Amino acid sequence: MTDTTKTASEQDRVLIFDTTLRDGEQSPGATMTHDEKLEIAALLDEMGVDIIEAGFPIASEGDFEAVSAIARQSKNATICGLARANYKDIDRCWEAVRHAKSPRIHTFIGTSPLHRAIPNLDMDQMAERIHDTVSHARNLCDNVQWSPMDATRTEHDYLCRVVEIAIKAGATTINIPDTVGYTAPRESADLIRMLVERVPGADTIVFATHCHNDLGMATANALAAVEAGARQIECTINGLGERAGNTALEEVVMALKVRNDIMPYRTGVDSTKIMNISRKVATVSGFPVQFNKAIVGKNAFAHESGIHQDGMLKNAQTFEIMRPADVGLADTSLVMGKHSGRAALRAKLKDLGYDLADNQLNDVFVRFKALADRKKEVYDDDIVALIQDQVTSAEHDTLQLKRLRVVCGTDGPQEAEMTLSVEGVDHAIDATGDGPVDAAFNAVKMIYPHHAKLHLYQVHAVTEGTDAQATVSVRLEEDGKIATGQAADTDTVVASVKAYVNALNRLIHRRQKSAPGADTKDVHYSSHA
Ligand code: KIV
Ligand code: ZN
Repeated sequence: MTDTTKTASEQDRVLIFDTTLRDGEQSPGATMTHDEKLEIAALLDEMGVDIIEAGFPIASEGDFEAVSAIARQSKNATICGLARANYKDIDRCWEAVRHAKSPRIHTFIGTSPLHRAIPNLDMDQMAERIHDTVSHARNLCDNVQWSPMDATRTEHDYLCRVVEIAIKAGATTINIPDTVGYTAPRESADLIRMLVERVPGADTIVFATHCHNDLGMATANALAAVEAGARQIECTINGLGERAGNTALEEVVMALKVRNDIMPYRTGVDSTKIMNISRKVATVSGFPVQFNKAIVGKNAFAHESGIHQDGMLKNAQTFEIMRPADVGLADTSLVMGKHSGRAALRAKLKDLGYDLADNQLNDVFVRFKALADRKKEVYDDDIVALIQDQVTSAEHDTLQLKRLRVVCGTDGPQEAEMTLSVEGVDHAIDATGDGPVDAAFNAVKMIYPHHAKLHLYQVHAVTEGTDAQATVSVRLEEDGKIATGQAADTDTVVASVKAYVNALNRLIHRRQKSAPGADTKDVHYSSHA
């Protein structure tokens, strides 16, 4: 887009729109609590994200409360809420975001033939709906984003027509979603270029790109759209999102930074905050980052082969296109042990991106000492696992594991002796099972009967060695609602039970929070005026 009224520097600026708390939270099992959402929003704001899509206010009371609280706490970022193409959604959205210093309403409707068929609107009826709803939003808020959902499968002439209507009705940002992750880089660029060239008024608004990753091309598609004139990238931390996820924030930010020679655009994001927020989102969403994930994966800066290690020692640039410090990874690998004191732990935590208050530090210190007693060397990853474990277990949780002892070995059945506190009251029980984990999970079910089904049970060793901590992820499903739990411990069975209990607590929390029939997962992308 060549807008001659803008300086070169303004034209190169790409806005980062983070939708971890809306699109990201829509991935099955990634539900976050109110406090977790607030904490993530604060980190996004601090790292320089331009727009935070904080949720879908009409979806549930919980979503509404979270968006309102984020709107009130935001210091710099624009706070946006999502609304379908009807007045009720838009009014509710405005109620939630209006407290922000800079509020935005984001309203959308599916414009492709498949999506037009759902509310059973013909092209003219849909065009009228778009005009009415965008005008309504604009009467409430002077910052309105409009999205033709499934834009990449919408007829070009119709897409140009409805984009023009939305601009005339007052939209200030037009987002072009590749809802099903179907497009490819050249096509993504051509689509934006066509809109810029053909739609009257295109030079008065910002085009955004919103790409899903079903074919693994989300980041490439988003960057191609920027080269064609889009100036807002919609993305999520760790690429969290529906199905295969979205464009990953860390990927676009680092790609624009590292390849500024061929993509001369800038973002306002402080890349050194990336690692910290990535870890946080992995913990609270229960979606661990795959080891080989670009930028934030455990192996992204690890060099295993002799040739690579030799090259790295001579000159880091031989095999690294960015420095670990650029994304907030500490260079030093100061190994901690049982003689390390509170000050050393505080310094180490700071290096790792965790600035803890004194009482939190005390807690972590006690747990660090207990770990150091059991484990010779405590590595950075051990400390991160410790912190993450602390984040996932809250004092006010309904269920808390108090004691566990298992008997395992070649002669089954294996046994578990457990004390579990339910709403502050301790219950003890003995259970058997097919292996110690099964026995322990059976004990939880006997003390706290439920019909949640186990969908995923995954164990990872945090570091090497038989004394390594294990991090365990558990995903449970109950009546169509999914919750994921995580925990870490040097004892794999203890970590497993803590993760199971953590997932159950999240399900209980969701049961208590969501208004009947009004959960985000139940809101389909249909429209009712
Ligand atoms: O993928 C999509 O189309 C969306 C819209 C709601 C913008 O998330
Ligand atoms: Zn999406």
